[in-house]
Amino acid sequence: MNDKIAAPQSELPGAELDTALLRPDFLWGVSTSSYQIEGAAHEDGRGLSIWDVFCRQKGRIANGDTGDIACDHYHRYAEDIALMRDMGVRAYRFSTAWPRLLPRGRGAANEQGFAFYDRLIDRLLEARIEPWLCLYHWDLPQSLDDLGGWTNRDIAGWFADYAALVAQRYGDRVKHFATFNEPSVSTLFGYALGWNAPGIADKSSYYKAAHHLNLAHGAAVDAIRDLRPSALIGAIHNRQPVLPESGKPENAHAAALLDAHWNLLFPEPQSFAAYPALIAHEMEPSQKAGDMARICRRLDWFGVNHYSPIYARADAASQLGFAWGKPPASAQQTGAGWSIHPDAFRDVLIAAWRRYGLPIYVTENGSGGNDAPDATGAIADKARIDYLRAYTHAMGEAIRAGADIRGYFVWSLLDNFEWGAGFTNRFGLVHVDFKTLRRTPKASARWYAGLIRPTRKD
Ligand code: FCB
Repeated sequence: MNDKIAAPQSELPGAELDTALLRPDFLWGVSTSSYQIEGAAHEDGRGLSIWDVFCRQKGRIANGDTGDIACDHYHRYAEDIALMRDMGVRAYRFSTAWPRLLPRGRGAANEQGFAFYDRLIDRLLEARIEPWLCLYHWDLPQSLDDLGGWTNRDIAGWFADYAALVAQRYGDRVKHFATFNEPSVSTLFGYALGWNAPGIADKSSYYKAAHHLNLAHGAAVDAIRDLRPSALIGAIHNRQPVLPESGKPENAHAAALLDAHWNLLFPEPQSFAAYPALIAHEMEPSQKAGDMARICRRLDWFGVNHYSPIYARADAASQLGFAWGKPPASAQQTGAGWSIHPDAFRDVLIAAWRRYGLPIYVTENGSGGNDAPDATGAIADKARIDYLRAYTHAMGEAIRAGADIRGYFVWSLLDNFEWGAGFTNRFGLVHVDFKTLRRTPKASARWYAGLIRPTRKD
């Protein structure tokens, strides 16, 4: 997701969420991921991930940026937890870096890596913030990529072994585990389009990777449940309506195809043991008897990441039959050029609730741009506040329509390494000066604290 930064515009209606709609235990949180914030890429025994390698390939990342230092959260986690506590958030979703815990992806564990997440979790609990742990936010150990990565069927077992170590170590303090963050992005962008690590553009690798990731999901759910029967396990999916780019009628079929890849390829087999009809035949060569039952395991919650609708157009030359389309010129956009459409968010939440029937947590929502401090050092990110106000209001409408939504996590706590866009696309409630690593809460952090405050019982 590395769209160019466009001029911010924002004139959204200003209705606030009616917090009376929320459950008394509604969970307000913030989200991050390991490679995007931790830094310390070569410290304390961490192994290389596919993103360390990808960032070093010429032309992959804006300005040649890398996550080597990122927000230096590895050393500054206590300051970051204090920022969350000051905002009043009750939950923090982070990911563990597989290569920090198992530098070669399997085999010897790295105790220094495990000790880092012990410190993080203990400090969160002291601040009365619930840790939500995601096992995979795209930073695959490079040593496993050398063996074929997600295209190697053995990865289901490697991932389950890693999940078991994490559940064993942290399951006494962490209740909520997610297997994967946005598997459609890591596979489609990583193996079919070549935009994300490991940078492969090959249809057959992509279908293998998708099937093996689904197997890994099922195997990890079983591994966690065996060790920690009371753990609450979910998966995190990006759910975005796919609309045809205006123009040709064949764009409607392209949109249906992209919808199958983007919205259905993972949650459908994970919940109903079936691949979406439009691409089921492509998945067959990777399947073995019993696989669909291995993938479809009971889950406790459903994570929705959502930012905007996406657009598709027909493209006969592309391997998959569609290409990324453009939003209509009239669409209102964030500073990152993503279209703003709060009603789509409301509809996505209602549809996910109806289809999957699990308690829903919004695990990511937020607005990117290029906010900079003014002459006084303040960051008046009005466009982000307008976006968050409109989107939380839309979430309230979904709750009013009956959707069982139990929490909402802003992406993101901090400005961070935004994949292909490097440090040019800022999503934080807290500004990070990437030269000094100084943190400064933006106006949106104060706005979010004000939204949360009346809903806290303590
Ligand atoms: C999501 C990713 C997250 C971040 C946001 C802006 O697709 O899960 O890491 O990049 O987009």
